[in-house]
This record gives sequence, C-alpha cells and structure tokens, in this order.
Amino acid sequence: MAATGEEQQGTKAFYVSTPIYYVNDAPHLGHAYTTVAGDVLTRWHRQRGEKVWYLTGTDEHGQKIMRTAEAHGVTPQEWCDKLVEEAWKPLWEHLEIANDDFIRTTEKRHTDRVQEFVQDLYDKGEIYRGGYEGPYCVGCEEYKTPGELLDGEGEYAGLKLCPIHKTPVEMLKEENYFFKLSEYGPKLLEFYEANPGFVQPESARNEVLSFVRQGLNDLSISRSTFDWGVRVPWDDNHVIYVWIDALLNYATAVGYGADEQKFAGTWPADVHLVGKDILRFHAVIWPAMLMANGLPLPGKVFANGWLMVGGEKMSKSNLTGIKPQDLTDHFGVDAYRWYFLRAIQYGQDGSFSWEDFTHRYTSELANDFGNLASRVGAMTVKYFDGDLPAAPAAGPAEQVIVDGLAHATAEADRRIGDELDFAGGIAAVFDFIKKVNLYLTEQEPWKVAKAAIPGAADAAGSPEAQARLATILYTAAEALRAVAVLLHPVMPATSQQLWTSLGAEPALGPLADQRIAEAAEWGRLPAGARVTKGAILFPRLEDPKTD
Ligand code: MSP
Repeated sequence: MAATGEEQQGTKAFYVSTPIYYVNDAPHLGHAYTTVAGDVLTRWHRQRGEKVWYLTGTDEHGQKIMRTAEAHGVTPQEWCDKLVEEAWKPLWEHLEIANDDFIRTTEKRHTDRVQEFVQDLYDKGEIYRGGYEGPYCVGCEEYKTPGELLDGEGEYAGLKLCPIHKTPVEMLKEENYFFKLSEYGPKLLEFYEANPGFVQPESARNEVLSFVRQGLNDLSISRSTFDWGVRVPWDDNHVIYVWIDALLNYATAVGYGADEQKFAGTWPADVHLVGKDILRFHAVIWPAMLMANGLPLPGKVFANGWLMVGGEKMSKSNLTGIKPQDLTDHFGVDAYRWYFLRAIQYGQDGSFSWEDFTHRYTSELANDFGNLASRVGAMTVKYFDGDLPAAPAAGPAEQVIVDGLAHATAEADRRIGDELDFAGGIAAVFDFIKKVNLYLTEQEPWKVAKAAIPGAADAAGSPEAQARLATILYTAAEALRAVAVLLHPVMPATSQQLWTSLGAEPALGPLADQRIAEAAEWGRLPAGARVTKGAILFPRLEDPKTD
C-alpha cells in the first residue's frame, strides 16, 4: 500500500478505480492488465505531486460465485476468503500494485451502505416492483436481449448462447424490483454531450451513445431465486442485483455515508478503468444511479480492449494455461508490467505471444535500455573511478540530448498522465533511450578515452579529450537519471536499481519523490555522484520459450 502525498492534504485526490473482480477463480492475464494500467496511471500522478487514491477489490456476491462455491463444497464466504487471501491479494503484491485500499463487497462497510443507497432510491420513488422474463447469462450476471444471442452448435445445438461467454443462457422469470433507468436516457445523452471525454476511447463513446439513443429499459435490481447477496432492506425475500451492489463499491470504499471528510476528499472518481465488456454498466447504469441519488458523476470511464489468445478474448477457459506468474518467472515483474502497456494500444484489443514478448524484451529492454545503463556505469567506473565528472565541454551534440529529453518528458506526461496512451508515452521514453545510445555510438567515448587517459595511447592525456570524455559520460548519466524518473511508474524495481547505481539518491532523495515536471530539468544529477556498475537490469532470458 502506498502512502499519499501528505503535502497535498485538503485537496481532492486523483481517484482511480479498477473493476472489482469476480472471485470465482484466480486472477488471469486479463485482470492483471487493467490493474497494472491503473497502477501505472496512479504512480504517474503521484510523481506529478498529486494526492492519489487507487482502489481495487473483489466482487463476491451473485450466482456465479455461489455456484462455484457449491461445486467446491464450501460456503460462498469461505470460497471468497480463500481466493482473496491466497490468489488475488498475493498477485497484486507480486506485481507491485500500490493500491490504497482493497474493497470486498462482503465487507460490512460496503453492505450497510449499499442498503442505505438502495433504500434512498426506493424512498425517492426511483424503484418499483414488477415482473420480468428473459434470457440471462450467469457469466455476465446480466439479462440479454434476444437479438444479441448466438445460435449454439455442437454440444450446444438448438440452444441460445451468450455472445461473450459462448455458453447457453437461462430463461429467468422473476418478480423483482426495478430501477427507473428508462427515465434517464435523455439526461444521460445531455451529460455525454456536455462531457465529451466521459467515455473513452472514441469507439467506446460511440457504442454507449448508440445504445442509449435506442432507448433504455428499466433495470431489474433485485433477485429472489437465491440469497447470496445484500438483502433488499424493505423486502427480506430479495437480494440486491450483484451489479448494483458491485458498482456501489466505488462510493462505499471512499466513505460514502460513513466518513464525510474522506468522501469529500476523494469523490467522485476521476477515472474508472473498465474492460469494454462492462462498459455499459459503468457508462450508463452507474451514472444514472448517481443522478438518481444526486451524487456528482465520475470524470471518465475508460474502456480497455481485450487481451486475446488465438483470436478470442482471454478468459479462464481459453487461457492456454498461461498464468501471470509464468510470465513474471520468465521475464521478471517489471518487464511484465511494461510489456502489455508497451505492446498494446490501451483501449484496443491486442494479442499476446511469447515470441513478441521475447523479441521486445531483448531488443528494447535488454539491448537498448539495459546495455545503455551498463555501458555508462562501466565507463564511469573505468575512466573516472565511479566519480561522476562535470560536463565542461557541452556542445550541439549534447543539446540534442537535452532537447530530446524535454520532448520525451512532455510527450510521456501528456500521453500517460492525461490520455492513458501508455504505449505512446512509453515509446516516447524509449525513443529517447535510442537517441542516447546513438549519441554514445557517435561520440565514441571509448576512443576519446584513449586520448584522455594518461599513458593509455599518448604519453599524456589531452585536456580537451578529458573534457570531452567527462562531458559524454555526464550527459549519458544525466539522461539515465531522467529515464529512471520517467520509467519509475512503469518499472519501479528496475528504475530503483538504476537510481541506486547512478548514485542519485544522496543528492536528489528517493526516486518515488522525483517529480515528472522536474525530470527534464537538465543538470540535476550532480558531478561527484558515486556511480557504480550496478546489476544487469535485464538479464539474458533463460530457456527461450516460444509457443
Ligand atoms: N465483477 C465485475 C466487475 C464489477 S465492477 C463494479 C466483472 N468482473 S470480472 O472478474 O469479470 O473482471 C472484468 C474485468 O477484468 C474486465 O472489465 C477487464 O477490466 C478485465 N479483463 C478480464 N478479461 C480480460 C481480457 N481478456 N482482456 C482485458 N481485460 C480483461 O466483470
């Protein structure tokens, strides 16, 4: 858990959430994808000096969880406790996720407030009793419209299938409570119009607009055929629909109805990160619920695309056995965090493959980044005994690096911090790394050293050559100082290693405290910093696996 910037007390936190995940099974690559993205985003904002609140958690009610627990012969609560403690929380720790809170929908701090919220809506006349019959997908925990169902084949011949899960839907007929969602269509459209950035990316916004324009149905918000859920406060025979329960986590976790000060300092969320499969819940139902209760609406719902395997959405059943830990064992945690955001445009679908990961690891991480760091460390140790020299002979070649850094920093800040274009922001930093490599290749410090070091080639080292050598190594080390700052949100451990090997901490303080806005301020790393060779940042991959 990360501390928030205490200097920012009193202002509203930049509040980011992930979906709360179903705990019917252990987390897979798809879940980790959204959670890592949120972590990078929040770390970026922390390094902007903002107060930040990053929330994740688990969605524990509903039929899906209940059936899974039954199949394993345990109670739903036992099942959830086990999965949360043994699978979900440990993975987030392993992936260095710095969430500020972890909400579970079975916690009393959540269930009490959910009841109050729904009771409020009931008292306001937003909820009524009615009947509904329709096809229901337990995987989605959602009624489907007949038009969107697929025709089953093979073992499912003659059955109608959920378009997402490709499993048969069930016909459900229930006497339920309904939320008057249909009345919110025009208000929502007005809201989207006034807030064009509310749903992103553009494709997601278009999907939501056309869905709402078709007209909304009222929403069944209770269930009476099973009891694993939060009781409807005025009717003991019903539990609250799992999606209403789940969406409210974003409010209950930050003190809604319980801690006014915390709520005021956090609410509303600035960014809800969601997969595109759950876009409508967040961009239609959720704002309508908040409107109905008079609460301020979130700033943005950003829908990420799907990680695909073999052309299908990655899910429990088609994971081809790859677990996040399999990849981190092979590539390391930081490379894992980096890869999915670097290789796939956030907001679009993307495929994962061992080959692509291996290729990018080797070319961008090991060759471009890792080699640069180790060359600079090794040469500073060799030629200057690890005492970082000053740069007395800076000229046009150095100015290219200074300008390149300013550009990379501004690009990365806008793309990652504002636009959630992680791939573009990371690419800007890696383009800069390439520039620094090119600079070294062109300046050939190893050749300059021959003229600079007494007795190496000439009898006496030339002062001009010494000044050049010092300038080249200072420039490269200072560039790496900034790279460590800019990559810290993405690769916290590796950047820390680099920070340590540059001897930056004694003069500049802890890496996590470095501000993005100061990253491009040239000359922050002082001459005299103790540079060491440091460990190899990206070791050669063992046992190159390909699938
Ligand atoms: N419990 C609901 C969410 C409630 S939020 C109030 C749910 N849970 S889930 O376990 O199915 O997780 C859904 C989220 O996991 C997706 O929205 C997405 O963020 C992430 N992903 C799951 N599979 C994914 C991929 N294959 N690719 C990308 N993200 C995926 O729905």
